[in-house]
Amino acid sequence: MQFVLRRLKWQLLSVAFGFSIFYGTTFFHSRYMFNFEKTNNNQMQNGFVLVIGILSKLNEFNRRSAIRFTWLKTCKENEALVYCRFFTDSPENESNNTKLKIKTEIEKYGDIVFMPFKGGHNFGLRLVWMLNWFSEYSFNYFLRIDDDYFLCLESLLLELPSRPKRGLYWGYIHCRDHVVRVDEGWMLLSRDIIDEALSKLNSTLQCHPFGDQAVAMWIRDSKINITYFMDNDRVIHAATAYTEDKYMTPNICQNYLALHGAYPSQMLKYWILSKSINKVRLNINNRISIPPFDTVCKYSKEFDWRWFYPHVKFEPKPCHTNPVWSITHTEFKGREDIGSEVLY
Ligand SMILES: *[C@@H]1O[C@H](CO)[C@@H](O)[C@H](O)[C@H]1NC(C)=O
Ligand SMILES: *[C@@H]1O[C@H](CO)[C@@H](O)[C@H](O)[C@H]1NC(C)=O
Ligand SMILES: *[C@@H]1O[C@H](CO)[C@@H](O)[C@H](O)[C@H]1NC(C)=O
Ligand SMILES: *[C@@H]1O[C@H](CO)[C@@H](O)[C@H](O)[C@H]1NC(C)=O
Repeated sequence: MQFVLRRLKWQLLSVAFGFSIFYGTTFFHSRYMFNFEKTNNNQMQNGFVLVIGILSKLNEFNRRSAIRFTWLKTCKENEALVYCRFFTDSPENESNNTKLKIKTEIEKYGDIVFMPFKGGHNFGLRLVWMLNWFSEYSFNYFLRIDDDYFLCLESLLLELPSRPKRGLYWGYIHCRDHVVRVDEGWMLLSRDIIDEALSKLNSTLQCHPFGDQAVAMWIRDSKINITYFMDNDRVIHAATAYTEDKYMTPNICQNYLALHGAYPSQMLKYWILSKSINKVRLNINNRISIPPFDTVCKYSKEFDWRWFYPHVKFEPKPCHTNPVWSITHTEFKGREDIGSEVLY
């Protein structure tokens, strides 16, 4: 599987569009995408503090634009520290119209990585693919984030140096009996957790239609001393687009770290609000200590997928078998499509 993943990573663009179209463009030569020559690259030598994989559906052009127009700017301004990429399913079998649109987008921005998937529920595999892609880089932390999250990236960068370097499992934690886990919409992992998982990729590493259930099983089977950082007051999981103006506060990035359900119009508003305070005040986040898990969640960390409700209950399968699950509703609909605050 790993071999296949690596090869696909290099080949997908050519498969999708033909080498002739892209050869010689800045996109094709982007050091970020294809140059893993560690010795020739200062950033590679020093390593990134943080790498960010933004999961985005192919057709969500507007969400990507909103992110580029807002917090991705912070990423670019701090390119020695943090490295961000969008990850979408491959356009290979999409309509010519979609291909043309995405071609224009990548020529202009060069910040999208295509994964060899086409729709459906296989978020565990997508996550593994993404981790494998990033594993060629040197970094301390990985953040997986959905394209409808507003991220206070400046605060996060200020805060990371004071966080555990090893065994960090951070985000909005679902505190539920037998299914305690960090939600995959905003999930921050330290490098050791990723290396351990990838070392099992050819053997026991478990995949699941939902990435957060997959990671919860990796954590359960891990030998690492894991710190569960339940940060539910700052990583807002509720779809904030439907919470009226509750989060529209001038000190937004002092009170919060990330806000979910931020569709393009909210993204822009949050960004403007986030610019209204200075760095010194942002620094206050450093002082928030990680609460011992048993003081914030009464449930055991022992994760068991069988405790889920039927519509999200699936038996895990080893990732190396490239598993698929038969799921009755074929297309995964996000909350924006459904128009409600809580999906499950
Ligand atoms: C899409 O483009 C390809 C290559 O230009 C062409 O061969 C094919 O007929 C087009 N498909 C459609 C449905 O227009
Ligand atoms: C596109 O279709 C071909 C032929 O059916 C298939 O082999 C390939 O895996 C598909 N690609 C993706 C990304 O689904
Ligand atoms: C997994 O298998 C592939 C192909 O056999 C091999 O190249 C790769 O090094 C293996 N990875 C690990 C972590 O064992
Ligand atoms: C695990 O890490 C915590 C926090 O750093 C520490 O207090 C604890 O002693 C560690 N446990 C083991 C078994 O190393």
